[in-house]
Amino acid sequence: MPQTGDQAVPEPAAARPPRIDSSVAHNARVWNYWLGGKDNFDADRRVGDHVRGMFPVIGDVARADRRFLARAIGFLAGPAGVRQFLDIGTGLPTADNTHDLAQAVAPDSRIVYVDNDPMVLVHARALLTSRPEGVTRYVEADIHRPETILSAAAETLDLDQPVAVMMLGILNFVLDTDEAYGIVRRLMDAVPSGSYLAVTHPTLELGGESNVPAMAFWNEHAAPPIRARTGAEIAGFFTGLDLVEPGLVSCARWRPGPNEADAVTVPQYGAVARKP
Ligand SMILES: C[S@@+](CC[C@H](N)C(=O)[O-])C[C@H]1O[C@@H](n2cnc3c(N)ncnc32)[C@H](O)[C@@H]1O
Repeated sequence: MPQTGDQAVPEPAAARPPRIDSSVAHNARVWNYWLGGKDNFDADRRVGDHVRGMFPVIGDVARADRRFLARAIGFLAGPAGVRQFLDIGTGLPTADNTHDLAQAVAPDSRIVYVDNDPMVLVHARALLTSRPEGVTRYVEADIHRPETILSAAAETLDLDQPVAVMMLGILNFVLDTDEAYGIVRRLMDAVPSGSYLAVTHPTLELGGESNVPAMAFWNEHAAPPIRARTGAEIAGFFTGLDLVEPGLVSCARWRPGPNEADAVTVPQYGAVARKP
């Protein structure tokens, strides 16, 4: 049975000493730096600046990705009526986290956050601020282990009811495409009809060619290693699901709000799809 209650504590792993290595740039912290956050170290800022020098739109990508999250959750918690969210590759807490966005629409929303970065674990308390009607929980787990994620999620979410599986900027860390497809399939097989999958993913299309040397630099100097995919490869994550309008597009172009009509196209695909 899923847990009830307004909050849950981090996994027992929280009791272990954090394994933070401040000497090597890590994705969660560099992403936080590009978003203008303060939860990063010198090594993160140096690599972040170098990547930005090679791939100047990276800050636009990060901001567009977070705005996509807000619009996708607005749709999912709003007209789609979803009340359960499994957010894998959460990132460091920011102003508008998944539970802030979902519970602003539906206070009884239940959210399970998953990440494997020790710095995210250290800051996870900022994610455990559920409205009393709902619940948030943080799970330290690796996306390569979908069974672990599902069994931990089942303690908080009712997997017989629709779940929105949020995978924003995370599948790019599963380097083998067949393995990435298998992970998504396993997760979506575990949730019922009426569930949703939301994905954002970097690409060398949509003007992203200069990300080639930037990703090569990243893979030499930072962790974890990353890759881009084509639109066709990213579309493969949605096999067997029904893409909602407008389909797979630059995440900046996915249902832009009234003040975002002029948003620049960024080389990061985004889409939301429903399990029939
Ligand atoms: C680019 S950030 C995206 C954060 C957030 N989803 C967003 O869209 O703003 C990617 C996140 O995935 C996490 N991550 C990377 N590899 C992971 C893995 N193997 N398992 C779980 N999380 C991972 C990183 O720690 C980081 O927090």
